[in-house]
Amino acid sequence: MILEGVLVDLVPCDQRFQALEHRWENNESAFWGDAGNRQFPSRQVIQRRQEGRLERPVLRTVIFGIQTKGGVPIGVFGIGDFEPQHRLAMLGAAIGEPAYWGGGYGTDALLLVVDYAFDWLDLRRVWLQTMSSNVRVIRQMAKVGFTLEGRQRQATLADGIRQDMLCFGLLREEWPGREALVERLGLREKAIQRG
Ligand SMILES: CC(C)(COP(=O)(O)OP(=O)(O)OC[C@H]1O[C@@H](n2cnc3c(N)ncnc32)[C@H](O)[C@@H]1OP(=O)(O)O)[C@@H](O)C(=O)NCCC(=O)NCCS
Repeated sequence: MILEGVLVDLVPCDQRFQALEHRWENNESAFWGDAGNRQFPSRQVIQRRQEGRLERPVLRTVIFGIQTKGGVPIGVFGIGDFEPQHRLAMLGAAIGEPAYWGGGYGTDALLLVVDYAFDWLDLRRVWLQTMSSNVRVIRQMAKVGFTLEGRQRQATLADGIRQDMLCFGLLREEWPGREALVERLGLREKAIQRG
């Protein structure tokens, strides 16, 4: 399955993405994506993790690979912790290649996943958590219309600095639809500029 965006496509998280997991888990994207954790997993640990996922697929989680329109794998996007009786799920993204941060790629991917959550899975609410210094996520939440719903004070220690964890949520009735946001955020213009 492919979810086609303007700057990126969401595709199955195949071997091309798995081959990059060690690199992405050892650079700054892991720090930001995992609320300040720096675990520095070895290749062996990553390999065991990947084998474990094949043997025991993570239930109630869908992980997409994020690739550019030119087919370059740049990160992953997960939608999980599904609660079908409440019709909600948690989102989590990491663009593993910092060179692609701040260029709209993550927001294009987010719009695809929110669309999938509301229009395909028929969910009512999606949410995510991030640490309070993650300015890119905070900006992204504002652009897409998520609401800051909660703040867990000093919930993470990132490089020796205590930080709050912020929880953002979006309800289906607040979602103007993917096309409206692609337009409002000028993603097509960005795509044209990139060639
Ligand atoms: C979070 C992430 C998925 C967002 O994707 P992205 O492609 O970087 O997002 P966008 O470019 O669409 O939006 C980021 C916004 O932050 C802004 N930004 C970037 N650096 C910034 C900074 N230092 N200060 C303030 N704003 C900044 C960008 O300019 C952009 O806003 P704009 O569109 O108004 O210009 C991506 O940055 C990422 O994977 N980061 C590392 C892992 C991570 O943090 N994961 C999320 C865990 S909750």
